[in-house]
Amino acid sequence: MFDIAVFVSGGGTNLQAIIDQIADHRLCGVHIACVVASQDRCFALQRARSAGIPTHVVKRSSFTEPASFDQALLNILRPYQVQLVVLAGYLTLLGPDFLAAYKGRVINIHPSLIPAFSGTGFYGIKPHEAALAWGVRLIGATVHLVDTAYDHGPIILQKAVPVLADDTAQTLQQRVMQDAEQVILPQAIALFAQGRIKQEGRIVRILNEI
Ligand code: GAR
Repeated sequence: MFDIAVFVSGGGTNLQAIIDQIADHRLCGVHIACVVASQDRCFALQRARSAGIPTHVVKRSSFTEPASFDQALLNILRPYQVQLVVLAGYLTLLGPDFLAAYKGRVINIHPSLIPAFSGTGFYGIKPHEAALAWGVRLIGATVHLVDTAYDHGPIILQKAVPVLADDTAQTLQQRVMQDAEQVILPQAIALFAQGRIKQEGRIVRILNEI
């Protein structure tokens, strides 16, 4: 089994997509060993508990130093021996110690085609609001490797989604979640589980791509 940890901060629709795809065998050989939340009042925790997945809450505000926050996360993950950490709507920046321990094995989903509408301040519905304000015709989602800056690491997968004339930020967010995020995040996990991801500096190669 390819064991993963999923980190969450909010509603958990991406977590649910992973749970559902594992349950109906669209995502094979993958097991969610635990879910780690950045706060205790997020619906993602309920989704995890309903699926019988062990949960933990680690608040950044409980630690003065980034290094002690990283250490707390590492201590929680150690017994699970996970091979991949998936940030699924997780909004806290991870520190260098955590990322060094899981080098090349932390991925994030972001609701835009990076580098557009990404980085500090672009989280949740903000990229969709900005996309409407710019009048872009396409938005989408990106799965990327995580480094110490928001939405900055090497890109693994991207999927574009059209912006429609009558979209609100909410309808656009919904379409991006369903048609892009919930497609490419499980796809990226499958690629890792199959050992098909190879990082060469900023470039990520997908092995045996058809
Ligand atoms: C998702 O749209 C995710 O891409 C975004 O937050 C939402 C969380 O939804 N993440 C970011 O903005 C990270 N920069 P969810 O909790 O329902 O999966």
